[in-house]
Amino acid sequence: MFSLIYSAAINGIEAHLVEVETYISSGMPVFSIVGLPDVAVKESRDRVAAALKNSGFDFPSKKITVNLAPADIKKEGGIFDLSIALGILAAIGKIKKENLQRFCAVGELSLDGKIRKVKGVLPISLSLQKNKIKDFIVPFPNRQEAAVTGKANVFPFKTLIEIVKFINGEAECEPYLYDEKELSVLVEAEYDFADVKGQKNAKRASEIAAAGSHNIIMSGPPGSGKTMIAKRIPGILPLMTFDEAIETTKIWSAAGHVFSGGLMGRRTFRSPHHTTSSVALAGGGAYPKPGEVSLAHNGILFLDEFAEFRRDALEVLRQPLEDKKITVSRAKNSFVFPASFMLVAAMNPCPCGNLGHREKECVCAPLQIRKYQNKISGPLMDRIDIHIEVPALKFLELSELDNNSESSAAIRERVIKAREIQNIRFTGSDIYANAQMQAKEVKKYCVLSDKAYEILKTAIEKLNFSARSYDKILKISRTIADLDGSSTIKSHHITEAVRYRFFDRS
Ligand SMILES: Nc1ncnc2c1ncn2[C@@H]1O[C@H](COP(=O)(O)OP(=O)(O)O)[C@@H](O)[C@H]1O
Ligand SMILES: [Mg+2]
Repeated sequence: MFSLIYSAAINGIEAHLVEVETYISSGMPVFSIVGLPDVAVKESRDRVAAALKNSGFDFPSKKITVNLAPADIKKEGGIFDLSIALGILAAIGKIKKENLQRFCAVGELSLDGKIRKVKGVLPISLSLQKNKIKDFIVPFPNRQEAAVTGKANVFPFKTLIEIVKFINGEAECEPYLYDEKELSVLVEAEYDFADVKGQKNAKRASEIAAAGSHNIIMSGPPGSGKTMIAKRIPGILPLMTFDEAIETTKIWSAAGHVFSGGLMGRRTFRSPHHTTSSVALAGGGAYPKPGEVSLAHNGILFLDEFAEFRRDALEVLRQPLEDKKITVSRAKNSFVFPASFMLVAAMNPCPCGNLGHREKECVCAPLQIRKYQNKISGPLMDRIDIHIEVPALKFLELSELDNNSESSAAIRERVIKAREIQNIRFTGSDIYANAQMQAKEVKKYCVLSDKAYEILKTAIEKLNFSARSYDKILKISRTIADLDGSSTIKSHHITEAVRYRFFDRS
């Protein structure tokens, strides 16, 4: 009276195959599950028993032992309900157990025998191939993410009864095939730059940031449009590729999101509040979940009110900004989550917000202002290439400016061209954009004409720029030249780049 079926557990964002063994013997009627934490076991037992009875099966009044192996993988939640129920049915002869072993089944049961969606189906689907299991039984709402990888035969179901008939060969079910038309990938972003009036400088800086994947910080009074601009940056980045969409969706799937169409189709825009904890940013918890930096993978992490964030939360950003991933350490093991995002930050210029305002007066003392601006640590500021000021527009300007602002699609065309140049430049290395150049690459690719060099030298001396500005200006100029289709960095590229180091000047 033994049966075996496969299921899967999510650890961080990776899936692990789990063997669900069921053994039924005569003896006191006890239903024990080993390999799950206490709370989950109790809940699962109750759901499975009710679902079996309400699906018309007799719940065996015998000794039932279910083993979820390997024991050392942490298991969570109701994802095993379905495999446990099927295992019991096979062990009592209601399902042909020789048919059962080829399946991996995931799903939470409702008390009346319906199958509820679960998280992590995309990572599980990706992992099946590795484990040489092809047949994957999933809850109906998870069918698209299960099938999008094209690596499994996906059988979606809504009720336990249907699954039993299918496994016994009493009902047909063709594998669910992913319909490319359903693919929500490659969809346009939600917001368009065409809505932003004026603010030429900020728009241009956003274009350069997107083209070279430079992190950017905007400083300006409340209401000047910083948030509005930030929200539009995902839309000028190249559309996600299929592989990028899989990478990002995998993270979101493990965090419990199910997308219509199966894939996350847009570049993500995450804007955690400034009171966010370091754990929420980095990821963590008893069952480690990806944090904001990973949910922003392949997209934008927008930190509004940058100076108001807690110091320990901001420190979390240093590793992902450097390595494009984040390590979340737990007592026993550690997890590494992808975290490759473009950082867009916004802040007021001073505590009252009116510093530099053309009409309102700033009431802050100079010391207060300095303290406010110094709240962001040097090492963090060091990872941000582009600084700009976003001045408040006057009401009149807002109402009078024409609406012929350039669309995001038009800007994106130029960004894509500049990215293509960078792809060729960095072929064969880990770097994909100018922002990631280290000193070695800067030296190699940012060669200046004599005239351009003189201009840079004068700018640095006159404006009293710090030494670290030097490389930043070179990188930004490289991107400006790429947007210009110019292989050499010319003097006007340098002149423009100098404008985007606002904080070095003040
Ligand atoms: N350049 C602009 N063009 C059109 N609307 C703008 C512009 N700047 C500000 N607004 C309007 O003002 C509102 C507030 O802007 P917001 O981006 O929230 O400012 P901030 O983040 O700098 O405080 C926006 O929702 C928008 O309606
Ligand atoms: Mg804002």
